[in-house]
Amino acid sequence: MRKKIIAGNWKMNKTIEEAVELANSIKLDLADCKEVDVVLCPPFTALKSVSDVVSETLIAVGSQNMSSEDEGAYTGEISHTMLKELFVRYVILGHSERRQYYKENDFWVNKKVIKALEKNLRPILCVGETLEEREAGDTEKVVEVQVREGLKDVSADAYTELVVAYEPVWAIGTGKTASAEQAQEVHAFIRGIIKDMVGEEAANAVRIQYGGSMKPANAAELLSQPDIDGGLIGGAALDATSFVSIVKAAL
Ligand code: 13P
Repeated sequence: MRKKIIAGNWKMNKTIEEAVELANSIKLDLADCKEVDVVLCPPFTALKSVSDVVSETLIAVGSQNMSSEDEGAYTGEISHTMLKELFVRYVILGHSERRQYYKENDFWVNKKVIKALEKNLRPILCVGETLEEREAGDTEKVVEVQVREGLKDVSADAYTELVVAYEPVWAIGTGKTASAEQAQEVHAFIRGIIKDMVGEEAANAVRIQYGGSMKPANAAELLSQPDIDGGLIGGAALDATSFVSIVKAAL
């Protein structure tokens, strides 16, 4: 049985003060939540403060990106050492916003995934098709390339650590959610690719989250699908009540 994982991707939102307030509100309800893995991914500037807020709870902290390099002349980047110093456990990698606006590609995303695993950070690898790709009937082709390339050279035993997030780009921040059937279909497809890559045991162990306008009203139905193991939440994660109720839908 895979434990569900609900992560809040706060994107470029929240000052330190606002982040602390949100984390404190979430902590009131979820500090001891054992049944679901709860992860908060604030912007870099608030990682330390949010880590401090949740330090004695079961809530984990994640970052929204990480460099594939260890240290050195990489202006604007952040390393695994720096993140671990702030008690970061998860790293979101290859988010569609990074692919779309900052031209991140599968090669670099894969290097980051490998680096994160090597340094005992848990990657959340994001994949997903655009509206044009879906309408052209290319969803499976696009997702397959992102999964195969993003997880290239990852050993079978690492699949208990890593998380894949299926985030159809057309559903992100648009209010349009993939239907439970549409999402389940792609999740099962992703699990099938992983089975083909590294075998059934790893495919059964890996957690695959759905992301894209997940909210309290649709979370329960999405999370009841056999291959949907959690959610990566954007907008609804910025409000403690909504985020907590999504976590409760995963119980
Ligand atoms: P929304 O929940 O705002 O659609 O964002 C999803 C997302 O991109 C999470 O990473």
